[in-house]
Amino acid sequence: MLDVQKIRDDFPILTREVNGKPLVYFDNAATSQTPQVVIDAIVDYYSSYNANIHRGVHTLSQEATDAYEIARKKIQEHFGAKYAHEIILTSGTTHSINIIATGFTSLLSKGDEIIVSALEHHSNIVPWQMLCERTGAILKVIPMNEDGELVMNVYDQLLSNSTKLVFTNHISNALGTINPIEEIIEKAHRVGAAVLIDGAQACPHVKPDVKALDVDFYVASAHKLCGPTGVGMLYGKEDWLNKLPPYQGGGEMIEQVTFEKTTYAGLPHKFEAGTPNICGGIAFGVALDYMNSIGFDNIAAYENELLEYGTQKLLEIEGLKIYGTSKNKTSVISFNLDNIHPYDVGTIVDKLGIAVRTGHHCAQPIMDFYKIPGTVRASFSFYNTKEEIDALVEAVKKAKMMLS
Ligand code: ALA
Repeated sequence: MLDVQKIRDDFPILTREVNGKPLVYFDNAATSQTPQVVIDAIVDYYSSYNANIHRGVHTLSQEATDAYEIARKKIQEHFGAKYAHEIILTSGTTHSINIIATGFTSLLSKGDEIIVSALEHHSNIVPWQMLCERTGAILKVIPMNEDGELVMNVYDQLLSNSTKLVFTNHISNALGTINPIEEIIEKAHRVGAAVLIDGAQACPHVKPDVKALDVDFYVASAHKLCGPTGVGMLYGKEDWLNKLPPYQGGGEMIEQVTFEKTTYAGLPHKFEAGTPNICGGIAFGVALDYMNSIGFDNIAAYENELLEYGTQKLLEIEGLKIYGTSKNKTSVISFNLDNIHPYDVGTIVDKLGIAVRTGHHCAQPIMDFYKIPGTVRASFSFYNTKEEIDALVEAVKKAKMMLS
């Protein structure tokens, strides 16, 4: 299993103090921490081969281009894509979703239907609502139940020949529920609909295989899996990416430009206008290497242990309710204390050095379902420990005492 103490040494930030207490970082679902190898890769890029890519014959530009394309290859291999050109490097999951939502504008007509799940982050709701406004397509919602699971028999009823697209997250950011994406994809394909899976929350915990899933689009962000912010990926099946128009015009995405007519570059450059986050892309590849060196099976098994331990310990606090009680979930615990606002709990536990996220987690429809303003969310990573969970439990007890 994991040598967690050794792993913790890889993360310089974990030695710092917050408010005079050792940092306990439980906001991993918002962003993960960064290991030294990734920090080194970023420093190395800017110290020794910072240059624009795909543009120059000079040595630095070629070194940067090679490193960037090696990173793309690593991302391809990690996600199991057939071709490297099916991996588009983006600024993150939101950017990736917007490329597809905008691209479908010319492919949808009034009355076409698209299906979203009730468990989505705003980034997988709003771009599709904007698409509906542009096209007259209709947005339908797979509802959720009290445990925070999708009601799959309603999904069956929503699907029809009018369904053109289905999009859901792989794992809910607010509740940690693992959605049955295999079933969602298979059923959508039966009616000829394409599927986009938002893997932002899944990728820190599991290693998806886009070919085995037969998914049309899969999107993720580097900063959730030990990489830097401002970089992410869009996987798309080659046929789909060829069919969709470019998202932005500019340099890099063209084949030939005249004032009369412009032709576009092939994949992946057609979707990569402008100078990308070169250093971020390279560091994304290094982060994947790091995560793979630990091993996703080891990560999942250990995080599951943390989830079970944390759930049991937190539930010992009277008046504490956990939202998201599916048996199939990752290491995210969203909770509230009776009659106490989540912000107040978050503020007190921060004073004790513990970082949790509070609020609606960019998933207001989930909060509306439970009729709450938000939750306190503790999200665990493979570098967290049971002792840190004990510290959280003590801090929540203290918050309860102070606020009741
Ligand atoms: N989507 C991120 C979260 O859930 C920011 O916190």
